[in-house]
Amino acid sequence: MSELKSKIAEKLDLQEIAYSMLWEDSRILNLALKINPDDHVLSICSAGCNVLSMLLAKPKAITAIDFNQSQLMILELKIAGIKRLDHAEFMKLLGFYPCDDRIKLFDCCASELPPSALSWWQQHQKLMIDGIAYSGRLELYLKRLRENFLRIWKAEGLAVLKSCQNIEEQARFWQRYGTDEVKHMLTDFVAKQNQQSGRDAAKLEHVHDNYAEGLWQRLEHTIKTQPMSDNFFNQYILLDDHQQPEHTYDYLNQNNFTELKSLVNRITLVHDQLEKHLTSVPIGTYSKGNFSDIFEYMTEDATKELLSLIGKSFAKSGRIAYWNLFVDRNSRNQISSLSLLQEESQNLHLDDRLWFYKNFFIETII
Ligand SMILES: C[S@@+](CC[C@H](N)C(=O)[O-])C[C@H]1O[C@@H](n2cnc3c(N)ncnc32)[C@H](O)[C@@H]1O
Repeated sequence: MSELKSKIAEKLDLQEIAYSMLWEDSRILNLALKINPDDHVLSICSAGCNVLSMLLAKPKAITAIDFNQSQLMILELKIAGIKRLDHAEFMKLLGFYPCDDRIKLFDCCASELPPSALSWWQQHQKLMIDGIAYSGRLELYLKRLRENFLRIWKAEGLAVLKSCQNIEEQARFWQRYGTDEVKHMLTDFVAKQNQQSGRDAAKLEHVHDNYAEGLWQRLEHTIKTQPMSDNFFNQYILLDDHQQPEHTYDYLNQNNFTELKSLVNRITLVHDQLEKHLTSVPIGTYSKGNFSDIFEYMTEDATKELLSLIGKSFAKSGRIAYWNLFVDRNSRNQISSLSLLQEESQNLHLDDRLWFYKNFFIETII
């Protein structure tokens, strides 16, 4: 096989913070991967939220990889903050709460940052001072989507949704407020040209079909089956900024903070393309893998090649998991080293708290 390269890496602005949070549900990811103490997990980094969340399952090691250095810098800052700060300071450093003196908090952590991360953050000081929590391109896009829901629902509709105490009340809300006008707004908002402000155009190159109907049905599914109190993704997209950020991602929960401090040295960060990295490590290094929705940006053939490489590189009986956003990408059980777990994947996908994703897949290494 010729050396694999990521084609999209050449087309993206790899300085930009695309995601300051991870819009992928760690709950189904952890259930899919069944992480145990012998595992070495390989995970796409993005904003690092799921790396930290999987760390709480206590694998032997986690390697976080990204070809976008800015994304790795976010995780570097989080790791340094976990090591040096208390929980309240950590939340302020990240921008979840107001803070007049983030530089002081940053200075406390600076000695924990590797030289490359220290100089990166010194060059991007304003970003840190403003607070990174909701600053990524996708977070800003979702905020605009929220403003569009509010434009139609108005304060009255929003108050009804906020007051819902259970899924029965949410279903009644949807009956009244899940109107054609809202559906058209959503369809229009996610239409290709608008999408480009939330994601780089190159990331949509392989999207051809009409995904709006599926999005609408999945949004309805989350509202009718998942209490808003348990779905912090919908809280952000439909209601407001998070009122209680510590009750969102597991790694932000105060009860997990001491444990995180003891585990955080198990993380290694790698600035590379997954395609290249896999050929540079001994076969069997990794036993579990989280690949976000990276196949979204590839042709079917490129997906097949990369999945084959993953299958050959990973330890036998390992597991990998990944999402499909708008395109259909999986091994289709045509790769000899992988076995697609259809039923388990489908069941977990039904519990996904994010409705963007068309599919979630788990494959085992055979
Ligand atoms: C795939 S994106 C998706 C994030 C989110 N699920 C979404 O839909 O917008 C997550 C991260 O993967 C990184 N990434 C994508 N393809 C990669 C590859 N082949 N090797 C390394 N990192 C990659 C991107 O830089 C980004 O930070």
